[in-house]
Order: sequence, then C-alpha cells, then structure tokens
Amino acid sequence: MAKLLHLSCSPRADSESSAGARVFLDGFRRARPDWDIDAMDLWRERLPEFIGPIVEAKYARMKAQAFDDAQRDSFAEAERIALRFSLADRVLISTPMWNFGIPYRLKQWFDIVIQPGLTFRFDPARGYLPLLKDRPTIVILASGSDFATGMNRGRIDMATPYLREALRFIGVSDVRFVPIGPTTGPTEPIRAARETAYRRLGEIAARF
Ligand SMILES: Cc1cc2nc3c(=O)[nH]c(=O)nc-3n(C[C@H](O)[C@H](O)[C@H](O)COP(=O)(O)O)c2cc1C
Repeated sequence: MAKLLHLSCSPRADSESSAGARVFLDGFRRARPDWDIDAMDLWRERLPEFIGPIVEAKYARMKAQAFDDAQRDSFAEAERIALRFSLADRVLISTPMWNFGIPYRLKQWFDIVIQPGLTFRFDPARGYLPLLKDRPTIVILASGSDFATGMNRGRIDMATPYLREALRFIGVSDVRFVPIGPTTGPTEPIRAARETAYRRLGEIAARF
C-alpha cells in the first residue's frame, strides 16, 4: 500500500505546525483515501541517544571497519528508523522553529538516519552521493516571527536552509516549504498567516 510518513516535531498540544499538519492530512485523505499514513511523533517514539556504539558505528563505517556486536545492534536500530522514511512515497514534516533552527529531536532523527551506506555514500572521485530515491515532501514550519521578507526583528531562519540541505544530502530534493508565521504577537497577522498557510496546504494536499 502507498504510504505517507508524517514526522511530527512539536511537543505542544496547541501546536501551530501540528494544526497545519491536520489541515494538510484532511485534504490528503480526501484525495487519496486508500493511502496508509504512518504518523511518527518524534517526542514520543524511541530515538537512540547518539552516544556510544551508534556514534562509533558511524566512524567504523566511514573507515570501512567491521562492527562489533554493540555497533551492529545500534546500526540496526538506525536502519529501522531510516527504513520507515525510505519506504514512504510521500513525506510530511511538521515542525516548530526553535532558536533559528529545528527542535533537537528532529536534529537527533537526522543524526540517526544520515549514515554512510544507509542514506549516503562517499565516492573519492565524485564526493558525497545520496542513496535514497527522491519523493514529494512537504515541510510545515511554524515560527513566532514572519520570515516572508527575510530576517525578522533580528532573528534569522536557519531551519529552512538546514532542512533543505539535510534532505537533499540523502536524496530528497522535491521539497516544498509552507511557513506558518507569525504565530506570536498581535492577533491579526497571526490569523492572516494561518489563513494563507491553510489555503496553500489545502491546494497542495489535493495534488500531492
Ligand atoms: C525553545 C523555543 C525557541 C524558539 N525560537 C524561535 C526562533 O528562533 N524564531 C522564531 O521565529 N520563533 C521561535 N520560537 C517560537 C516558535 O517558533 C513558535 O511558537 C511556533 O509556533 C512553535 O511551533 P508549534 O506551535 O508547532 O509548537 C521559539 C519557541 C521556543 C519554545
């Protein structure tokens, strides 16, 4: 069965990015009622801490050395997490912006899945090459500020370029970003931003 993976990255019950994801998924389910939706809440699912055998497994791989038992077990866990992503025909990431970037749980997820021989490889002549197939991906990014016109009141958006590059590195370039922001401050700009984002999400969901 065709599958959409939803990486849900806000820990908040009143999350703006999660509300945007619900709008998108309502439209997506109407357009593709037969699809399986795999919801992965990054704050509730087990993600291994990147210390000990899992980090040593990465270095062993980079040096083309054999794994010991603990490294093999850790790498298998990274493989299971990456497989959930690689089996998805479509991907939805809904995330807050935190301190100019992404929440640490989403960064942890990238640290786990970006592994040599799993999602990328290194060729001495050609450099770093992705191993995953491309697939339509949408990122809903909620931010307190509005970055539509660039830097906002002394804050910058490094989440969008980071996510674009991290996804491209493993093979996913077909990525559309739907910002929701401002989500803090006066009521009217918040309402207008939400309305614009929801309209776009509805349009994309119908043809995703
Ligand atoms: C720890 C933390 C850091 C934040 N850093 C930023 C920031 O750098 N830029 C920004 O525009 N908003 C920032 N915010 C505001 C959030 O992006 C905003 O509340 C957003 O709606 C959160 O997404 P959510 O509603 O899906 O949880 C921050 C919020 C928190 C809790």
